[in-house]
Amino acid sequence: MAQHHQKVVLVGDGAVGSSYAFALAQQGIAEELVIVDVAKERTQGDALDLEDATPWTFNKQIRSGEYSDAADADLVVITAGAPQKPGETRLDLVDKNLKIMQSIITPLMASGFDGIILVAANPVDILTMAAQRFSGLPKNRVFGSGTSLDTARLRVALGHKFGVAPADVNAYILGEHGDSEFANFDEATIGGRPILDWAKEAGLSEQDLEDILYKTAHKAYDIINLKGATFYGIGTALARITRAIFRDEKAVLPVGAYMDGQYGLRDVYIGTPAVIGANGVEMVIETTLSAREQARFDKSAQTLQEVANDGFA
Ligand code: NAI
Ligand code: 2OP
Repeated sequence: MAQHHQKVVLVGDGAVGSSYAFALAQQGIAEELVIVDVAKERTQGDALDLEDATPWTFNKQIRSGEYSDAADADLVVITAGAPQKPGETRLDLVDKNLKIMQSIITPLMASGFDGIILVAANPVDILTMAAQRFSGLPKNRVFGSGTSLDTARLRVALGHKFGVAPADVNAYILGEHGDSEFANFDEATIGGRPILDWAKEAGLSEQDLEDILYKTAHKAYDIINLKGATFYGIGTALARITRAIFRDEKAVLPVGAYMDGQYGLRDVYIGTPAVIGANGVEMVIETTLSAREQARFDKSAQTLQEVANDGFA
């Protein structure tokens, strides 16, 4: 039996999109990658540049294309949109990036596309909800990168602090991919041992953990101040999510998933651990949070709902 041909259409070939494309090429994920952007020449140049990586990595078709190429695509990844300038928050981008999202979803759906949409453009939780509303695709097949990057940042910080590999830190950032996010310190573990025990042994106070959360939530601002944008971290996170979809891994990953009563939240896309496989978000993983964390989750969801209500909902 012929193997299913795995096709990604990437919309947005800027810093984030091209980093994602490079990660896909490096890791041999997907068989065909079509790149779409209003900056057409850039997509042509990137496709030619990226195909020169394939003799050393994995055979893959990479080309510049149009929305009509999405007709038989399995996955569309949306990284098109204005990034923050120094001093701007992600939520400040909402008006201009909602317009861009509408201008993408209309021709995308006109192509006959019926796959999965993964959104990374900011404010990602709001734009993911917009992508679902505008496309009408099932909610499990439209999701966002959510707190994947933030969770990676938290794992790096805790891994360095405790002298363990970041990949083995079982901690999550939940909530908005943005200023109201929070860490699940009260439930997090390393090697089955509570993070709070690790912290106690290392002489870290509750305030020290709050400082780690603050630095995690503000790392994007630091990077933007230093080099103007963030892209390798998110590009790699998007590639990891893509792999989980194409290999039907049922991988537990932090994403921006639709909440339908989990954690008491409804009608909002927000960062949470979820099971990711061939059907997109196959399950939202709901843990019992401490009262303090649940209050933060509620507040974060409320922030997003207010912005969504003002924007389009
Ligand atoms: P960039 O400015 O380098 O690239 C944006 C690209 O979008 C450009 O190539 C531009 O031509 C394209 N574009 C704009 N309007 C378009 C349209 N209507 N149709 C098709 N393409 C269009 O920006 P960068 O740094 O790549 O960031 C992209 C987005 O990703 C931003 O919103 C940024 O905030 C977000 N981001 C999200 C992260 C996350 O964790 N979710 C992490 C880092 C960035
Ligand atoms: C980030 O967290 C700016 O959302 C982007 O790096």
